[in-house]
Amino acid sequence: MAIFGKKKEELLTELPEVLPQHVGIIMDGNGRWAKKRGLPRPMGHIEGAKTFKKIIRHCKDIGLKHLSFYAFSTENWNRPEDEVAGLMKLFYDYLSDIHWLHEEKTRLIFMGDKARFSEKLRNKMIEVEEACKDYDEMIVFLAVNYGGRDDIANSCRKIAERVKNGELQPEDITEQTVADGLYTAGFPDVDLVIRPSGELRLSNFLIWQCAYAEYYFTDILWPDFTGKDLNDAIIDYANRNRRFGGV
Ligand code: FPP
Repeated sequence: MAIFGKKKEELLTELPEVLPQHVGIIMDGNGRWAKKRGLPRPMGHIEGAKTFKKIIRHCKDIGLKHLSFYAFSTENWNRPEDEVAGLMKLFYDYLSDIHWLHEEKTRLIFMGDKARFSEKLRNKMIEVEEACKDYDEMIVFLAVNYGGRDDIANSCRKIAERVKNGELQPEDITEQTVADGLYTAGFPDVDLVIRPSGELRLSNFLIWQCAYAEYYFTDILWPDFTGKDLNDAIIDYANRNRRFGGV
C-alpha cells in the first residue's frame, strides 16, 4: 500500500527500530487553518477530524501502540456556543460510524468527565468504548472535556475515599497510587508530545503523564499535518538523549 507517495515498507525503514510507546498529540490550529482560507472556524474542525482519522491509520501502519489526542479541554466550553455545538456534532457523527476502528482493531478510550455532555453523546461514547474494548493492537485515548489538573484531582478524590474507608493509610500513598487513579491507569506514560500550529505549551494536557516526555513543536496547522510530519517527529525524538534525571 502506498502512503504519502511512499510504500509502507519505505516509511518503516526511515523510522527508528524502537518507537515511542505512547505519543500524545495536541490537535491545534484548526481555527487558523479555516481563517487562512476565509472559511468559518467549524470548517477547520471538520478538516481536523479527517486528519485525526488519517493519523490513526498511519500510526497503526507504522506500529505505534498508544496514542492520545487532545480534542476538547475543560476550558474549551468557553468558546462561542455555535463552535462548541459544531464540535459536539462532529464527535457524535464520528462515533456513529466506527467501522474503521473495527478494521484497525483499535480500542478507543475517552479521557475526561463524560457527565458534562448531552445524554445522547454520553451514551454514544459509552457504546463505542464497549464495542472496541477487546482490541489491543492499538489504544487511542481521546481527551474530551479533559484537563490534566482535573485528572489528578479525580485521582486524589479516589485516594481520599479509600483513606476515609480505612482501606489505605496516608503513608502508603505513592506516585503509583496517584497514577492508578488517572484516566490512563495501567498504560505507559507519554514519551513524545507533538503540538502543531506553532504554540509552545502543554495547555493542561496529560500533565502527570508527560513528566518525562519529549516535546516536538511544528508550525504546521493540524488539518495539514500528515503521516510524514509524524514520522519526522518520531525521528527527531529518536535522536534525543533521554536521561530521566540521570546522567
Ligand atoms: C484547537 O484548535 C482545536 C480544538 C479545540 C478542537 C480539536 C478538535 C478536532 C481536531 C476535531 C476532532 C474530532 C474528532 C472526531 C475526534 P483551535 O480551534 O484552537 O485552532 P486555533 O488556535 O487556530 O484557533
